[in-house]
Amino acid sequence: MTNEEARKDRRRLLGGLAVGTVAGLVGAAAGAAVAHDANAVPPPRIEGPKRFKGKVVLITGGTSGIGRASVIAFADEGAKVVFCGRRRPLGAEVEALVRSRGGDAAYVWADVRQDASIKALVAEVKRRHGRLDVAFNNAGVSVGRPLHETSVADYENVMDTNVRGVFLCLREQIPLMLDQGSGVILITSSVQSVATRPGSAAYSASKRGLLGLMQVAALEYGARGIRVNALCPETVDTPMVRDLGGAADLPDPAWAIAAKAWGRQNVPGLERMATADEMARAALWLSSDEMSYLNGSAVLVDGGMTSAL
Ligand SMILES: NC(=O)c1ccc[n+]([C@@H]2O[C@H](COP(=O)([O-])OP(=O)(O)OC[C@H]3O[C@@H](n4cnc5c(N)ncnc54)[C@H](OP(=O)(O)O)[C@@H]3O)[C@@H](O)[C@H]2O)c1
Repeated sequence: MTNEEARKDRRRLLGGLAVGTVAGLVGAAAGAAVAHDANAVPPPRIEGPKRFKGKVVLITGGTSGIGRASVIAFADEGAKVVFCGRRRPLGAEVEALVRSRGGDAAYVWADVRQDASIKALVAEVKRRHGRLDVAFNNAGVSVGRPLHETSVADYENVMDTNVRGVFLCLREQIPLMLDQGSGVILITSSVQSVATRPGSAAYSASKRGLLGLMQVAALEYGARGIRVNALCPETVDTPMVRDLGGAADLPDPAWAIAAKAWGRQNVPGLERMATADEMARAALWLSSDEMSYLNGSAVLVDGGMTSAL
């Protein structure tokens, strides 16, 4: 690869995950035996102290990727988890997986773009458990196109899901936490809130917008016992990234090789994508009582990517 080609490759992120490179790797990957569907392999059980024993945790976007790994991780640490997403079969699957590990998780259908849906979701948390200790507002979508090729419908869907969806969640979650005088809210933003890339206009705008929401909420409710922060991951190996890379139909072994190559080229520092489980562990840590002074922070978990700016 020439320097110019390498430079172009580095400029692609979620909006064009080196599709050519990925396609070229299919042949090279033929016969490889590594299973690599990010949603297929449950993460290893977290042993040790149960930091969330008895705590009630709500996670949006728990049917896939980071949210799915987080449902499993919080339940492993003793939490009573309620999670949402729109794909009912995946919700049932995650619920069953958690139960098979001895955990407590309940799937509730909700679309974060709909006010009535979020009201019903938070009301269901209150009906079941009477309180809400941690809200992980994680559901999100992306679109990978140059700005002038991004349709208004795609732009609105990204903003409605990623920003309006979190706003609707905060509006319902905060009164519950104010009543009990405590709570932790974590929002999934992105490294793109700091360092963006071509092909992600709507996504980048949404993830930056989230930091505004997060900071205002942190100021308004910090002194009343509610901490509000954002998790900002660099590329995580999830179905979202695989779809954006045009690699949804690739055999798993080919994706494993493509993902590895992409990480080497695009993530200065660790030179690999993160796993969903690594982000789940970051979410656990940021939401835990150990982080009692963390408020209004956008925490980069980016493998070193932004250090290269
Ligand atoms: N993967 C990355 O590289 C990366 C990097 C930085 C930040 N993030 C952020 O991390 C979060 C999770 O992404 P992921 O990578 O784990 O992607 P993913 O595997 O595609 O998961 C996205 C989750 O969001 C849910 N969701 C989307 N639209 C929804 C809606 N309208 N209502 C309810 N749930 C909805 C999906 O559930 P249903 O489809 O079942 O509704 C799914 O559970 C997103 O906010 C994303 O922007 C990801």
